[in-house]
Amino acid sequence: MHITRLRLTSFRNHDSTDVGFLRGVNVLIGLNGQGKTNIVEAINLLATGGSHRTSMMTALIEKNADHGVVNAEIAHDSRSLSVDVVLDRTGANKARANGNSVRMRDLSRFIHAVVFAPEDLKIVRDDPEERRAFLDAIVTVLSPRMIAVFSDYDRALKQRNSLLKSLRFVNRGQRDLSTLAVWDEKIIGLGTEITFARLAAVSALREPLARAYENVAGTAQLTDIRLISKVHVGLDEASPRDLIAEKFTISTIAALDDDLDRGTTSIGPHRDDVTFVLNELPVKGYASHGETWSFTLALKLATAELFRHDSLGDPILLLDDVFAELDESRRQRLTHAIRDFEQVIITAAVENDVPNVNVQRTFYVDAGRVSEGHAA
Ligand SMILES: Nc1ncnc2c1ncn2[C@@H]1O[C@H](COP(=O)(O)OP(=O)(O)OP(=O)(O)O)[C@@H](O)[C@H]1O
Ligand SMILES: [Mg+2]
Repeated sequence: MHITRLRLTSFRNHDSTDVGFLRGVNVLIGLNGQGKTNIVEAINLLATGGSHRTSMMTALIEKNADHGVVNAEIAHDSRSLSVDVVLDRTGANKARANGNSVRMRDLSRFIHAVVFAPEDLKIVRDDPEERRAFLDAIVTVLSPRMIAVFSDYDRALKQRNSLLKSLRFVNRGQRDLSTLAVWDEKIIGLGTEITFARLAAVSALREPLARAYENVAGTAQLTDIRLISKVHVGLDEASPRDLIAEKFTISTIAALDDDLDRGTTSIGPHRDDVTFVLNELPVKGYASHGETWSFTLALKLATAELFRHDSLGDPILLLDDVFAELDESRRQRLTHAIRDFEQVIITAAVENDVPNVNVQRTFYVDAGRVSEGHAA
C-alpha cells in the first residue's frame, strides 16, 4: 500500500499541510525542529491509533487549537481508502475509514506502517513495556481479533486490581473471594490468548530477524528472540492453549496471598518481557552500541517483512532520521534491504545523509510548511 495524499490541520506545528506522496521513495528535508517527525507521527497515528512519541494525545493538537485533523488517501492494489483522525482537546478522539466511524484502536486493520527512528533503541534498552508494545503491534497485525482481546484483558486486570485493593481492608477470615474468582477466570481466559499469540509472534519473527540482522550488519550472527512469560516459566512456542491455561491457573492460585497483600495482580501477560539475544548473550546490557543499532534495525526490518505477507500488502516504511546515525556500510545495507518496498518515506536534516536511492519526490519542511522540490 502507499499514501497518495496526506493532509494535516492544526497537527503539532502544521497549521495546514497538504502533501502528495508518490509510490517509491519520498524524502523530507528540513532543519531541526521544522516538523519532519511530526509528519511521520501523523502517518503512524493513522496506522496505529497512537503516537510513537507520547501517550499524551493532546500534545498532537496545535497548541492554540481545539482540534487537530489528519487525513490520508491510501492506495492498495486498485482500491483507494480515505482515513481520518480527529483529535479533540477536551472530548473523545474519532477515526473514520471511507467516511465510516471506526475505533481508534482498530485503525491498524486499515493501514500498516513501520517506523524506524533513533528512539527505537528504547525497544532494546528500556523497560519491558517497550518490548511488549513492539511485540503486540505484530500480534495485532497477524491476528486483528487480538485488538479486542488486549482491551478486554486490560479492563479485567483493572477490575481485579481494584477488587484486590478493596479486599486488603477486609479481615482475612471474612473475605468473600467469589467475585475475585470471576475476574481470575476472565484474566486466565484472555491472558491465555495473549500468551499464545505472543509466543506465535516470537516464533514468526525468529527467521526474518536472523535474515534482517545479516542484511544490516553484513555478517551472519546467531540472533534469537524469546518471550519471558510471567504466566509460567516453562512455556514454549509449542505450548497449546490448554497447557498455557493450566499453568496460568496454577500460578494464579499460588500467587493469591501475595496479590491480596499487595493489592495488585502479579501473574499474567501484562508482566511479560522479551529477551533479544545476540551470539548467546542478551542484547540489553551486553551488546555494543553498533550491535544494538543493528539489532534494532533488524527488528524493524523483520517486522516489515512479516507485515508484507499480510493481506494489506507492503507496509509503508517511515525512516525518521535514521541515516544520520548509521555508518556508511550500514546506510548502504539498509538502503538495499528496503529497496523494493512499495513506499518509503525518509526524513533527514541534511540532504547528503540520504543515500543515493531512487528518490521519486523531495519535500522541504520549514516551520510546519511543506514545499515540493526546492529548498525553502
Ligand atoms: N502541539 C504543538 N503545537 C505547536 N507546535 C508543536 C506542537 N508539538 C510540537 N510542536 C513543535 O514542532 C516542532 C518539532 O517538530 P518535529 O519533531 O517534527 O521536528 P523535526 O523536523 O523532526 O526536527 P529534528 O530534525 O530535530 O528531528 C518543535 O519546534 C515543537 O515545538
Ligand atoms: Mg525529527
